[in-house]
Amino acid sequence: MAMTLVKPNSFQPLESKKPRNQNHPFFNSSFGQRRSINPIFKSSYNPSFISSYSSPSSSSSSSLETLDEARRLVHQFDPKIPLEEALTPPSSWYTQPSFLSLEFDRVFFQGWQAVGCTEQIKESGNFFTGRLGNVEYVVCRDDNGNVHAFHNVCRHHASLLASGSGLLSCFVCPYHGWTYGLDGALLKATRITGIRNFNVNEFGLIPLKVAIWGPFVLLNLEDIPPQQAADVNNIGKEWLGSSSEILSTNGVDSSLSYICRREYTIECNWKVFCDNYLDGGYHVPYAHKGLSSGLKLESYSTTTFEKVSIQQCDGGSAETENEYERLGSKALYAFIYPNFMINRYGPWMDTNLVLPIGSRKCQVIFDYFLDASLKEDKAFIERSLEDSERVQMEDIILCEGVQRGLESPAYCSGRYAPSVEKAMHHFHCLLYHNLIN
Ligand code: FES
Ligand SMILES: [Fe+2]
Repeated sequence: MAMTLVKPNSFQPLESKKPRNQNHPFFNSSFGQRRSINPIFKSSYNPSFISSYSSPSSSSSSSLETLDEARRLVHQFDPKIPLEEALTPPSSWYTQPSFLSLEFDRVFFQGWQAVGCTEQIKESGNFFTGRLGNVEYVVCRDDNGNVHAFHNVCRHHASLLASGSGLLSCFVCPYHGWTYGLDGALLKATRITGIRNFNVNEFGLIPLKVAIWGPFVLLNLEDIPPQQAADVNNIGKEWLGSSSEILSTNGVDSSLSYICRREYTIECNWKVFCDNYLDGGYHVPYAHKGLSSGLKLESYSTTTFEKVSIQQCDGGSAETENEYERLGSKALYAFIYPNFMINRYGPWMDTNLVLPIGSRKCQVIFDYFLDASLKEDKAFIERSLEDSERVQMEDIILCEGVQRGLESPAYCSGRYAPSVEKAMHHFHCLLYHNLIN
């Protein structure tokens, strides 16, 4: 099976602040002053994409059948059975496209989702784009320092507007040049002479709810009236529940220096990667022999919160000095339901964002942060990243092997090892409750 390693590409060279086609002869229709955003939503705008995500051409009756099938699959797992007796979810949860459609609808298009880090929008004019299911989004910082997020779709004929990441003074559509401010207002529409009943104030970019917690950028893709702003003071509680204080007092904060990003495309369902993360170090001595000497695996402990589980482990007697320096005397691994992981160990913090691409494919984005006192130690950084890369490659092989096993007719569901797989069971129960509501 193909194993693809995508090298870092998110922090591309910064673009000039000058609009890309300012000198184009047709770039001359201006609405002058920026206006407030008052976009028209599609009358049925609703990011519940059951039918459109799973099968854009399907009829509504087949969409309902798909939904029914997915709901039937949800009930094949019983969260009431105690961990010691429970069966894991059936393999259909990891293989059926209809199940993924239900997950987008109920899990990813509800509540706060981590999408990136503040480093990506450090300066005014910085932006980054992304996709979750069929939602294309762009996050940016305007000239006043305010952070915005929008659907990354031009209001003229639906072209994607921005791509990648970088620095801009406005968004110029690559198709016919309609131009939007960083606050989403439509500033210029080219060659619209003769148009009638067109109100520029109604054609700004469609806003999304955005928030920042520590070094992380969050989006909420629910169909929320745009005037309803995020309650920034409450984000920690809304996103992390009662674990928010534990994380911030254990070194998960904005004081660390950003180092780099690594992206991996993995041929497995997004939950296979999460499950692998949530097995309480069970696989470490077998699959990461280099790592296991740096951790006291018998000290692993798991605490579950509303939507978060935290696994902790003491550092052990690492074989090499570098390994000990990298892992430190304590490691904390926080899983933020549904798809975000924060790993804090020694001077390092890395985050893993798991994005479903299809029922058997996901992308995992790693962002690395380091104690500011070490950010100039290039040799240490390089060695640490190499060690981390080796662990990721070992995990990718495991996850792709599990996906193939899940697709085999020989397997339906398995069992939990109660002393170590509590966080995994917690994840499956959260998902069940999320999908039935
Ligand atoms: S689609 Fe954007 S300007 Fe035409
Ligand atoms: Fe692993």
